[in-house]
Amino acid sequence: MKGLILSGGKGTRLKPFTFTRAKQLMPVANKPVLFRVIEAIRDASIGEIGIVIGDTGEEIRQAVGNGKRWGVDITYIPQDAPKGLAHAVKISQDFLGDDRFVMFLADNVIQGGINSLIRQFADSDWNSQIVLTEVEEPQHYGVAELDDQGRIVRLVEKPRVPPSKLALVGIYMFDPYVFEAVNSIQPSWRGELEITDAIQWLVEHGHRVYPYIHRGWWIDTGKSTDMLQANDRVLAELAHQVDGYVDRDSKIDHLVTVERGAEIINSVVRGPAIIGEDCRIVNSYVGPFTSIFHHTVIENSEIEHSIVLDHSRIYDVPSRIQDSIIGREVEVTYSPIKPKAYKMALGDNSKVGLL
Ligand code: DAU
Repeated sequence: MKGLILSGGKGTRLKPFTFTRAKQLMPVANKPVLFRVIEAIRDASIGEIGIVIGDTGEEIRQAVGNGKRWGVDITYIPQDAPKGLAHAVKISQDFLGDDRFVMFLADNVIQGGINSLIRQFADSDWNSQIVLTEVEEPQHYGVAELDDQGRIVRLVEKPRVPPSKLALVGIYMFDPYVFEAVNSIQPSWRGELEITDAIQWLVEHGHRVYPYIHRGWWIDTGKSTDMLQANDRVLAELAHQVDGYVDRDSKIDHLVTVERGAEIINSVVRGPAIIGEDCRIVNSYVGPFTSIFHHTVIENSEIEHSIVLDHSRIYDVPSRIQDSIIGREVEVTYSPIKPKAYKMALGDNSKVGLL
């Protein structure tokens, strides 16, 4: 089997973090979501992976390279515009050839990996396997309607009136019949060739599509709130370890990871939390469910349930920062300069909650 990762498209829903960055490179518990996807596929013993890239392709190539780091071979497949998930399959036909494959959306994080799913599909004669899970707001996803026997009746993309609560998770398995499907469907109302429509086509034309119901957690990190939620989930399940330096005046618990070169000085870090490479946490408190990415400095401040990206500085902040996502090279500090006021330089589409 081969792997196909979809990492093109535009990350408009994750603004402002994705004006300049690929949303798939946003770190969850200090590891880009895309890297987690590559590892999940590698752990299912698949060594040949194609990555569909778009406008942010160069950045993705630089971050991922040829895949040697993970012991896999990576082939990049440029997509000229985000014309839909089924379009991405279409342009990947040369890479996929006659192999069965798993397609994984690069902004999805799923509990428990995909080993058993892949094994199940590899050992079967199904033409396709899809993954479904119950969600509260199915209208934001592809939605499946099943019959009493658990067979697929209908699949529909982002329906206004969802026929069920079963959303399509961004993991799909196909055999080469899918090419017939993607070549037969028409663009949807949003102008995209939908993979949901291609799977519906397979069902209608008598191909065997097997629905697997996922019971663990799954997060589509396309929105900022989901990003924090994904961070909570992954931090809670991480095997924590301390490779950095923690001085004698600091307190950290067993659910804290301190990465290489990081220093914790006279501070309290309560897990689950992760402090990235070469960070400095000085006279500060880092509370549960916080990820501080590499080369960031926090001094005389308190932060909890947040994600801070790389090369940022947070110092002398008088009240606790909470439920926040802070970008790269950001500075947050107390300012004694009069007038006493909030002084901000915020990017477009930023959101700030003031007391
Ligand atoms: O996350 C699950 C959902 O993903 C499914 O429930 C939906 O049925 C499916 O259509 C998809 O919906 P989204 O609207 O969330 O897809 P999005 O546009 O966010 O794209 C998902 C990934 O695929 C993302 O990493 C970007 C990439 N992509 C997207 C498009 C449209 C491409 O590589 N090429 C594309 O043309």
